Amino acid sequence: MNKRRITAEITAIGGYVPEDRLTNEDLEKLVETSDKWITERTGIKERRILRDPLLATSDMAAFAVKKLLEDSRLPAEEVDCLILATSTPDQLLAPAASLVCEKAGLNNAWGFDLNAACSGFLYALSMGASLIESERYKKVIVIGADQMSAIVNYSDRNTCILFGDGAGAVLLEPSTAGIGVIDNLFKTDGKGVACLSVPAGGSLEPASTETLAAGRNYVQQDGRTVFKAAIKGMSDACLEIMERNNLTNQDVDWIIPHQANLRIINAVGNRLNFPLEKVKVNIQRYGNTTAATIPLCLWDFQDDFTAGDNILLTAFGAGFTWGSTYLKWGTLRHHNL
Ligand code: ACO
Repeated sequence: MNKRRITAEITAIGGYVPEDRLTNEDLEKLVETSDKWITERTGIKERRILRDPLLATSDMAAFAVKKLLEDSRLPAEEVDCLILATSTPDQLLAPAASLVCEKAGLNNAWGFDLNAACSGFLYALSMGASLIESERYKKVIVIGADQMSAIVNYSDRNTCILFGDGAGAVLLEPSTAGIGVIDNLFKTDGKGVACLSVPAGGSLEPASTETLAAGRNYVQQDGRTVFKAAIKGMSDACLEIMERNNLTNQDVDWIIPHQANLRIINAVGNRLNFPLEKVKVNIQRYGNTTAATIPLCLWDFQDDFTAGDNILLTAFGAGFTWGSTYLKWGTLRHHNL
């Protein structure tokens, strides 16, 4: 007898963005820029910023998980594993995932952090799906969360206009109906590190008064190179995954791209010949929340998706890291009714 393939279905979603907004008008007071320039060059109007000094990435992630558990009525102790994609853990050591398990009451879950920058959520989703497909775990939470305001220099107009804070979480459960994560295609090119990084604060250049004075503990990037590489990386990854799954752009219902810059998103949509109505965009409200952009889109637009929809997720980020995930949408569940 043929055993049906187990896939990992998204059965619940949660999200969190901080209350405080940083608008383009606020940024005009911090650096030499304008609402017009930022809107035309990036599409961003405002971002959310976690200002409470007692809160950090793990708190945003835990808020997103609590929302997921509340909406799906899933008891916290039923979660087996948690994977937190982040580039901004609360501390370099220990894993922020441990704090999320603690703060969200996931007493029976083991967890770990995964850092693949803006591609982190997709890489983590693939890892989580593999745990479900292995049949060793039944309920895996995958989170993308970043407090970018902690590593952004608010006197550098090249970067401070882009980023915001937030977290999104999904629950993966087994499906035998061919629903969920169907395929992943990922790439890494270490030459990209030279174009986008936080140079200091790690083992190469530990934080010191010199690195702080030189602003090397903040994000630095060659924006134009990243811009071009992101368009090519995301559109090529989508074309490749569509081809190997025999999908035409008519078969794809939605594309959810990493939200880095509206011009990047539009260029990817154009290269794939997708009508813009199929491309989900919320960058105007949140900016680039790094690992959180894709789960925050899933959270924001969940009511637009119907069972069986073919969704392409695609991301590009520091590393360089990039890729695409083919997801077949299922049904969000209520547990223990
Ligand atoms: N306000 C006003 N002027 C600005 C600002 C600003 N905030 N920032 C830069 N400028 C100036 C530059 O100094 C430059 O002036 P110059 O010609 O006198 O030197 C001019 O505007 C044009 O600069 P460019 O860098 O060519 O502007 P560009 O159109 O490339 O836009 C941007 C810059 C928005 C950073 C763009 O390159 C970009 O989005 N790159 C991708 C970066 C990114 O998304 N990084 C996030 C992490 S990776 C990821 O998520 C994919």
